[in-house]
Amino acid sequence: MRIDVVTLFPGYFEAPLGTSIIGRASERGLLEFGVHDLRDHGLGRHRSVDDQPYGGGAGMVMRPEPLFAAVEPLKAAGATVVLLDPAGERLTDALARELATLRHLALVCGRYEGIDDRVRALVDREVSIGDYVLTGGELPALVLIDAMSRFVPGVIDDASQAGDSFAGGLLEHPQYTRPESFRGMDVPAILFSGHHAEVDRWRRRESLRRTLERRPDLLAGAPLTDADRVVLDELRGGGED
Ligand code: ADE
Repeated sequence: MRIDVVTLFPGYFEAPLGTSIIGRASERGLLEFGVHDLRDHGLGRHRSVDDQPYGGGAGMVMRPEPLFAAVEPLKAAGATVVLLDPAGERLTDALARELATLRHLALVCGRYEGIDDRVRALVDREVSIGDYVLTGGELPALVLIDAMSRFVPGVIDDASQAGDSFAGGLLEHPQYTRPESFRGMDVPAILFSGHHAEVDRWRRRESLRRTLERRPDLLAGAPLTDADRVVLDELRGGGED
């Protein structure tokens, strides 16, 4: 998968794209990144990229020409153009999974108070990472890259992905590692039992419990078995294990 980013702050991307799982995926050629400085397409001696809003008001608006100049070649090369914007479609696990199937994405990071609305003519999708306003689209672009990368084949192993929160519509079960006992808190004994089926049942139950307690809204859309419904009824009844 190739991901191009158009930004006024290329420095934002250096460490995150070169570190950890994404850094390794990029070294292995599973992900290929291009970070483009919008300032290279700025206008005039000062390489200006923004101006005052027509109609008046506070703040500056990003002009269309530099954005068109930066994005058009990427579009011509076949990229799907995604603008990061608080008014976009909300990023979910499902959207990350869908975008990760594309071969070439161009992510456009807005800044300042906004961008000239004519830029939307270039854009295929708009994505928001949540109902809050950040100072620009750089962190949202990194969030989207991180969330998508996990679905690019080979980036992480499929087994570790399958149990992750949201993957099956539920939150993930609790995890433990050594030591067995820490400050009076013990790892549940079932996890040492060696009974894989029992461990799986316990994990499913804890996943259901956690989702019921923290994100009951997810249960409506989760694929549940009859056995899951029995467990949920028990949990709702306040029943102990
Ligand atoms: N730019 C500023 N805030 C944003 C958000 N919440 N999501 C995507 N892009 C943004």
